[in-house]
Amino acid sequence: MLKKLTLFPPIILTIIIIDISIQSSSLQYPHDLINIIADSVQPQNDSFQTKSENETHEPSSKPLPPPVPALFVIGDSSVDCGTNNYLGTFARADRLPYGRDFDTHQPTGRFCNGRIPVDYLAQYLGLPLVPSYLGQTGRVEDMIHGVNYASAGAGIIFTSGAELGQHISFTQQIQQVTDTFQLFILSMGEDTATDLISASVFYISIGTNDYIHYYLRNVSNVQMLYLPWNFNQFLATTVKQGIQNLYNIDVRKIVLMGLPPIGCAPNYMWRYGSQDGKCIEMINDMIMQFNFVMKYMVEELRHELPDANIIFCDVFQGSMDIIKNHKRYGFNVTTDACCGLGKYRGFIMCISPEMACRNASNHIWWDQFHPTEAVNSILADNVWSGKHTDMCYPMNLQDLVAGKAE
Ligand SMILES: *[C@@H]1O[C@H](CO)[C@@H](O)[C@H](O)[C@H]1NC(C)=O
Ligand SMILES: *[C@@H]1O[C@H](CO)[C@@H](O)[C@H](O)[C@H]1NC(C)=O
Ligand SMILES: *[C@@H]1O[C@H](CO)[C@@H](O)[C@H](O)[C@H]1NC(C)=O
Ligand SMILES: *[C@@H]1O[C@H](CO)[C@@H](O)[C@H](O)[C@H]1NC(C)=O
Ligand SMILES: *[C@@H]1O[C@H](CO)[C@@H](O)[C@H](O)[C@H]1NC(C)=O
Repeated sequence: MLKKLTLFPPIILTIIIIDISIQSSSLQYPHDLINIIADSVQPQNDSFQTKSENETHEPSSKPLPPPVPALFVIGDSSVDCGTNNYLGTFARADRLPYGRDFDTHQPTGRFCNGRIPVDYLAQYLGLPLVPSYLGQTGRVEDMIHGVNYASAGAGIIFTSGAELGQHISFTQQIQQVTDTFQLFILSMGEDTATDLISASVFYISIGTNDYIHYYLRNVSNVQMLYLPWNFNQFLATTVKQGIQNLYNIDVRKIVLMGLPPIGCAPNYMWRYGSQDGKCIEMINDMIMQFNFVMKYMVEELRHELPDANIIFCDVFQGSMDIIKNHKRYGFNVTTDACCGLGKYRGFIMCISPEMACRNASNHIWWDQFHPTEAVNSILADNVWSGKHTDMCYPMNLQDLVAGKAE
């Protein structure tokens, strides 16, 4: 089970990956690869493109947006699609009932009954589902449509989530992105690699664990040293530095996700003794402040890096809309997790199929901390086009991809 218990599996794997790809594919480069990239520049599924334009009521005469060659994902369990299956950690979703409603009906490492938001967004971008960095073959052909570096338990702060075992932190994931691009440059040359990178979308969804596993646990007396406001400033500064590092390797299109209302997550409802299903306001207030600070930071970056396009999507806002208008969205279970035990099913984590409800589609929460596929689908629609509620600032992903000005 715990395949890679070595101290720095990502580094070791990176070396192996580079070896394999150069040896096994050296004969194909560079021409085949450039063909592959050229193919990927066309939306793969025309019927899907037409459908999505239709849905958002765009005039049909509108030219197709410039294609996005790849989607790269950085983050935590909100978007992990298998990284942690290769790490020694308790934060793993590699057993049923996780994945039971996924396309394959098998666990994949996604912390959900089915799809996570980036699965929908890959589809909207006309791309295949993005493989996890540690789970893919290491062949450049399998990485040019995107790679998912996200690792459950990871935080913006290096040590957040460390008590769960291994994870790949925010800064380490950015290092892995850099490693990937080195590989691209080796394989396809600097110009082609740079074009690919600067045309690709980077999706960043991280920060909950800096609350769940750091601030709210008062690690290292952090609550005494930092007020929530200062803590959020610290997190924002770290994320800003990370985005600047991505910019320095020619990343130009970034979606930064805010945090969801974890004060409404079944685990905190249980832990803080919510009596009537009311969310824990003290936690939600900090999360709202986090989102405010991150949005401000994105505003700063938009001025400092005018040739980049960075958007911020407020998941808190989108999630509260779902909770408030749950009937309209078809949810009748808003506080209890589908899978888990105890009050709000938030006490014991989801570890076996017997703990799960029969039908997750009328639940907002899948387990102690993570939403159901049904919620992920709504949130993805909001990121893409603001379909249900405008969540992204100053524009949604569809407009970012279309190269719209603010
Ligand atoms: C395109 O997507 C539609 C549904 O979104 C599917 O029915 C169809 O088979 C797909 N076509 C190709 C060529 O993948
Ligand atoms: C999509 O557009 C076609 C005509 O172009 C129309 O007949 C159809 O009803 C539209 N579908 C939706 C879901 O808007
Ligand atoms: C955080 O932990 C320190 C000791 O480690 C303690 O003095 C402080 O009161 C704690 N803060 C809160 C809010 O619990
Ligand atoms: C939610 O709706 C389903 C059927 O749609 C029903 O079986 C279930 O009992 C309802 N749950 C609650 C808590 O109302
Ligand atoms: C789950 O419930 C939804 C609507 O509440 C329904 O459309 C779907 O068929 C149900 N799925 C199963 C497996 O019962």
